[in-house]
This record gives sequence, C-alpha cells and structure tokens, in this order.
Amino acid sequence: MVTYQQAFDSAARSPETFWKQQAGKLAWFTFPHTILSKDEHGIERWFADGELNTAYLALDHHVTQGRGEQTALIYDSPVTGKKARYSYGALRDQVARVAGMLAGLGVTKGDRVVIYMPMIPEAVMAMLACARLGAIHSVVFGGFAPNELAVRIEDAEPKVVLTASCGVEVNKVIPYKPMVDKAVMDSRWKPEHVVVVQRRECLADLHHERDKDWSALLQKAAPHDCVPVRATDPLYILYTSGTTGKPKGVVRDNGGHAVAMHYSMSTIYNVTPGDVFWAASDVGWVVGHSYIVYAPLIYGCTTVLYEGKPVKTPDPGAFWRVCDEYKVKVLFSAPTAFRAIKKEDPNGEQLAHYPMDKLTTIFMAGERLDPPTLEWVQSHTGRPVVDHWWQTETGWAIAGNPLGLERFAVKPGSATMPTPGYQVAVLSETGEVQPPGEQGYIAIKRPLPPGCLPTVWRNHDRFESGYLSQFPGYYVSGDGGYVDEDGYLFVMGRMDDVINVAGHRLSTGEMEEIVGSHEAVAECAVIGVHDELKGQLPLGLVVLKDGYVSDNGSIERALLQLVRDQLGAVACFKQAIIVDRLPKTRSGKILRRVIRQIADGEQYVVPSTIDDPSSLDELAQLLE
Ligand code: COA
Ligand code: AMP
Repeated sequence: MVTYQQAFDSAARSPETFWKQQAGKLAWFTFPHTILSKDEHGIERWFADGELNTAYLALDHHVTQGRGEQTALIYDSPVTGKKARYSYGALRDQVARVAGMLAGLGVTKGDRVVIYMPMIPEAVMAMLACARLGAIHSVVFGGFAPNELAVRIEDAEPKVVLTASCGVEVNKVIPYKPMVDKAVMDSRWKPEHVVVVQRRECLADLHHERDKDWSALLQKAAPHDCVPVRATDPLYILYTSGTTGKPKGVVRDNGGHAVAMHYSMSTIYNVTPGDVFWAASDVGWVVGHSYIVYAPLIYGCTTVLYEGKPVKTPDPGAFWRVCDEYKVKVLFSAPTAFRAIKKEDPNGEQLAHYPMDKLTTIFMAGERLDPPTLEWVQSHTGRPVVDHWWQTETGWAIAGNPLGLERFAVKPGSATMPTPGYQVAVLSETGEVQPPGEQGYIAIKRPLPPGCLPTVWRNHDRFESGYLSQFPGYYVSGDGGYVDEDGYLFVMGRMDDVINVAGHRLSTGEMEEIVGSHEAVAECAVIGVHDELKGQLPLGLVVLKDGYVSDNGSIERALLQLVRDQLGAVACFKQAIIVDRLPKTRSGKILRRVIRQIADGEQYVVPSTIDDPSSLDELAQLLE
C-alpha cells in the first residue's frame, strides 16, 4: 500500500515514471513511448505518441471486459417524472449510433460540435459520440443566454450544434430552440446543422433548412466505430469565465485526461469499479464533464444523471432520495446545494426517510466550503465530508483529502493536501514562496500533471499571458490562499474579477461590459458580495451620464434585464444601485476590493492611493 507521502514524492521527483505507471492501467490502442515532452510552444505535453479513444475506454472496453450488463448510466428526472437505466452495452450501442448520425452529417476527427442541452441522456451520448469520432465537443450550459452561446459558436466554429427543444427547471419549461436560433443568427459562424431532441414538454419548430430532428436522423444512422486519436488531440473545449468579457476556451486533451480521470477515481474518491458515483452538477460545467461523464465511466462505475435541484424537486430530501434509491457510494456537489437544503430543512428531518446504506463520503467543490455548511452536512448525514479544490483549467482536484491513499484529519476551511502530481506553492507578489500562514497567489509548479489544459482554444497567447507569464515556471491559479504549518492548503478566494454564484463561475468584468454598454451609463463597477445561500451575488454600482435620470428605478431594471438577456439568468444579477461617483485611486483605478469590503460590512483600510477619501464614506452610507 502506497502512502500519500510516497505517492506525492514519486510524482514530484520522477513524474514520467509515476504517470507512465498510471497510464499502464488504460487500454491504449498504442501505448506511448514518450511520456513527457514539449510542444512547439514549449508547453509540457503528456503521452504525445500514444493513441487511444476516450469513448472506447468509457464504454467498449468495459463491454469487452464483461461489464456489458452493468448499469453505466442512471437517469433520474424529478422535473419530468422520468427515470431510465442504460447498461454499458446499451449505452455503447446508442453512442455508436449517435456517432454514426454525426458522421452522416459530415462530422469527422477534429471537427467541433457544440452541445447546448439540458440534463438528458442524449447530452451524455452526444459527448461520448463526439469522442468516438475524434470530434471535439464544446458543451454550453443551458442557463447561458443566446449571446453567450453565440460567442462560443463563433470561437469554436462547430459544424453541428446539438440541442433539445427545451430545458425543464423548477415549475417552468425553458424553450432552448429559439435561443439557439438567435445565437446562430447573431454569430458570424454558421453551423451546417442544428439537431434537436424533441421533448414532450415543448416541441421545437424546425423551420430552418439546417434544422434536423434527432430521432429521425438516429433511426437511419448506422453505428460508427471508435476512431483512434493521438493523446494530445483535443477531446473537448470548455469555455469558462476569465477577467474580460470573452470567455476562455479551455482545451482538454484525450490521453492526459483519461489517465487523470482514472487515477482520481481511486486516489481521491476511493471507489472501485461497479460502485455508484453521483456528481450532482450539470454537464455544462467541468464537474459534469469529469465526474458525471468521463471519470465514472472510464473507471467502470455507474454514474447518475440527475435533472433536478437539491430543493423544490419536490423537496429538500431530493439528494437523499437519489442516494438511497440508487445505492450511491459517493455524492459530489457544490456547498451551495447543501446550503439550499439546510435552509429548507434546517434539522435534516428528510434524512430520516432515507437510510442511504451505501453512501460513504460526500465531496464538495466549486466554491469555498464554509465551516458551518461542513459542520451541518457532517453532523446530519453522519458521513465524512471532503472539500476539494479545482478549476475548469485543471479538470480534476488540485488539492483534497486523498482517501484512496490516506485519510487526513479535516480542518474546516481547508481543501487539505495537494494531490500527488500537483506541486502547489503560495507565492508573493514578487514570486517568492511564502512561509506557512502567509497569504499569496496559489500557483502550481510546472509541469502540470496530466489532464490540465495545454492551451486556450486558438488563443495560445492568452494561455501564456493569463496563466504562465506572471511567475516563470509556475501556472497561476487565480486563487489566493495559504498553506499552514501542517501543509494544509486554505483557498480563500479569487485574486481577479471572477466570482462564484451558486457554484457557477462568472466574470464581473463581463457584467461590467454589458452594464457599461447601456446608453445611460457613464461608468460602473460590478462586484461579488457575500450571500448566505449562493456564496456570492453580483452587485452593480452605476454612475449615470449627465442628463439621464432613472424614473422609479427604470434604468436599474433595464440594466438587470440587459445582463439577464446577454449573459443569462444564471448570473443572478438582481441588484444595481445608482451612485454619484465610484471610489478610485489617483490614477483612476476603481477600488473594487474596498467596495466589496464595504458592501460585505468588513473592516477596510483606506488605500493611500485614493483620490478622494470622502467617496468611500458616501458609499458606506449608501450601502448600509
Ligand atoms: N437552463 C436554463 N435556465 C437555468 C438553468 C438551465 N440549465 N440552470 C439555471 N437556470 C436559471 C434558473 O431557472 C434561474 O432562473 P430565474 O432567475 O428565472 O429563477 C437562474 O438560472 C438561476 O438559477 P440557479 O443558480 O440554479 O438558482 P436557483 O435559485 O434556481 O437554485 C440552487 C439555487 C443553490 C438550488 C442551485 O443553484 C443549485 O443547485 N446549485 C448547485 C450548483 C452546482 O451544481 N454547481 C456546479 C458545480 S459542482
Ligand atoms: P470552475 O472553473 O467553474 O470549476 O471554478 C473554479 C474556481 O472555483 C476556483 O478557481 C475557485 O475560485 C473556486 N473553487 C472551486 N473549488 C473550490 C474549493 N474547494 N475551495 C475554494 N474555492 C473553490
């Protein structure tokens, strides 16, 4: 049995030997000779000459190993009343036909396919079908508005967009097709085909020549085999919020990703093939990519696809019901989901109805796990709760409690230890490694382990400038925090303009661009303020141009609607306040950090560079 320290040391000292051994656990078509090399940009790449197919690993391989009858996917949809199970054999057959359907539309290796779908089995099939063909999928979360979809279509240039007629939220049906139509209309890039899964809850109008009906196409499609790809070929692009209005296309390769996914299931989550794994997230986020779709299937587990919410579908017992009904061993969700449950069922009374015999551990990520939520979940469920820290860019946990190796004592507020393969350092402004207890920029020493992004889609400069150039030799995470004397990592929050609303990563910079585009707005600042349920919520402070007056809040309402229309309901931009001026430095920089501290009622220090200290007093009075 390897200890955490042994695994950590060997991954740090001889990464090639360590990761070659992990790669040996997968069914490659051609096992790589080259384990770690550099590409034309000087970026470290894993397994460059290996060949494989991710959908083969996730499905076909298990069928050949005798798991064909085991359940691969459980679909549970309290919002529509549907439930379904797919065995590995059945899912492989369905995915092969969806791949055949895409091939029939001209999709080949390297082509992009945008997937804008709710949490239905076809979304998982679509992702795996792309992987089967060596095509690159880009899933866009359904809560994003047409403009966000358009931006992604324009950047990814997909041959096909796959969608559904609607999503079903709590007590409301959201038609998706009109949003896709608008996005395609607004985008400079036009996909050749838009394929629509028609759902009973609302049928879409297929009026364009490019529109196709999923089931009609599928009926005619022949199964398609797995296409071998190089380990460094992209599996997917997933757009995530950065500090500017334009999202970043995080690229994930096939080989490193598969190795990392497989390794994480045993080391971090401590599951074995056949166990039921449930990530209560959405396929539109990285958690959904890694832990609803790829990792559980590559590892031979049963995964749960849940189309519902932690509360109101129908009650705060929903999570416990699913864990109990499907014998879930590991549950993974965002702290905000548990805060929602706690709010509606503070004494955890629903838990009495669901013994959850098989549930061993609850994992959380997506935002900082606040100690009261940790304590509530632990004490009411009686299960250990693991906080682990990661981001879209890495695709798997940078730090956590590696239960498959060792169980560290929990320190509330800490994501515990760096995962083997990640050499985490906390750096000062000038790049010096900080002593224990000192806060700084959390960075990862290169090479990053397999699975992490090698570039930003068609914008390598943005990868270099956004992540690598600040501290040579390191990847900078964008998060700040510290390591304590025992080596525990505490992630305290973002150092940039990214905020986290209900576990969803959003850019305040992007919201500022949208608010600033309104004709009445002279300037604005959007900051993330603390919220009991969602962790953070955006708050807009707006200075109007001379001559504009907001009658009964008409301008504020227009701004809220603008962000909803352009970014999406998921932004939860529900508060805009008109102010006379914004506190700034003498060089004109808006003091966002101090504004946030004032809004959160925290102590703040008046910066020496401030232009006019009375602007802070004014703001403090207004936000009281
Ligand atoms: N398609 C369309 N609209 C969507 C959507 C989707 N897939 N997901 C969310 N929305 C809409 C919601 O309907 C809501 O619209 P409204 O303003 O008209 O009410 C808005 O976006 C905000 O949604 P949400 O953030 O989900 O808020 P909520 O109040 O409905 O629910 C929680 C709050 C905490 C229960 C919910 O956010 C949650 O379950 N969070 C878990 C987060 C998670 O899984 N994160 C992934 C990382 S692990
Ligand atoms: P995303 O890329 O959407 O997964 O968001 C990643 C960001 O969410 C990180 O950079 C952190 O700011 C935050 N985050 C994720 N997990 C944690 C965690 N366990 N603790 C603190 N912050 C987290």
